[in-house]
Amino acid sequence: MLAELEELKTVALTELAAAADLKAVESWRIAYLGSKGRLKGMMPQLKTVSKEDKPAVGKRLNEVKVALEQGFESRKAEVADSGVTGGPQVDVTQPGADLPEGRRHVLSRTIDEIVDIFGRMGFTTAAGPEVEDEWHNFTALNIPAGHPARDPIDNFFMGEQEGSRTLLRTQTSTVQIRTLEKQKPPVRIIACGRVYRPDTHDATHYSMFHQVEGLCVDRGISMVDLKTTLFQFARAYFGPEAEVRMRPSFFPFTEPSAEVDMKMKIKGEWQWIEIGGCGMVDPNVLEAVGVDPEEFTGFAFGLGIERVAMRKYGISDIRWLYENDVRFLNQF
Ligand code: DAH
Repeated sequence: MLAELEELKTVALTELAAAADLKAVESWRIAYLGSKGRLKGMMPQLKTVSKEDKPAVGKRLNEVKVALEQGFESRKAEVADSGVTGGPQVDVTQPGADLPEGRRHVLSRTIDEIVDIFGRMGFTTAAGPEVEDEWHNFTALNIPAGHPARDPIDNFFMGEQEGSRTLLRTQTSTVQIRTLEKQKPPVRIIACGRVYRPDTHDATHYSMFHQVEGLCVDRGISMVDLKTTLFQFARAYFGPEAEVRMRPSFFPFTEPSAEVDMKMKIKGEWQWIEIGGCGMVDPNVLEAVGVDPEEFTGFAFGLGIERVAMRKYGISDIRWLYENDVRFLNQF
């Protein structure tokens, strides 16, 4: 057993000298000095040693143990000093790694701002479904059967429900009807949401985009109220020098109707940009929802939210808004 002990010591110390990092030194400790290590593994043999030899062998066993323990401590110190470590070394004083910060999408932020500005003018928000029926998307809005706006080529028809065809709404004007069906005037709402048209995608067209619809119905509402409201919005959103221009136009649900242009600063220059339509609510629309056009009048408008945001932030391609490339989104 003595010979075996000597051999164990030699082999152990040679291996220890070769252990190059803290991890290796620790594995060595476990292999030789651990509770299931080689040295412990020799203990049972002590029983087989004769009575006379026992004290000497026991003493030697202890010496080897001490030698290995000392060897371990000094090798450990050496390796630690050399800076070679097995595991990761943590510098607890180092600042932590930055977590990337998310943000709201530029369109969501634009919608929030729009809701906020109209909210200050007394408009509450309303909403309607994106899958609509023909009554809300066309008929009640004074777009009769056979009107070219109902052409399948310009609409995403979905199917049929209770005898009426369903489609993805092409305009938020549907919410005018949805609101007036359940709320009697005075009504003063805006509705922001998605609309869908089968357009071919390019820099200025997409098959889905957002509109903000406005509706105000009360006694004595006139075109002055309409223009004032749009003007206040333009000033609040584009700045104190912004202006509004209305050009005569036609929409089935308003009479008279106008296109809305806003004058805004783009790359340092003031420019007129068309951003939507507006008008006085057509009496046929009021009648369709049971509001007496002799008693109440109203104005309505519909603006393109992408147009507003793209102009304000100088975004030249609408497709970037939906690609979800963080390199683009992080800029706003
Ligand atoms: N719904 C129209 C469109 O999508 C926009 C519009 C025009 C809305 C005039 C209105 C309005 O409320 O009065 O092109």
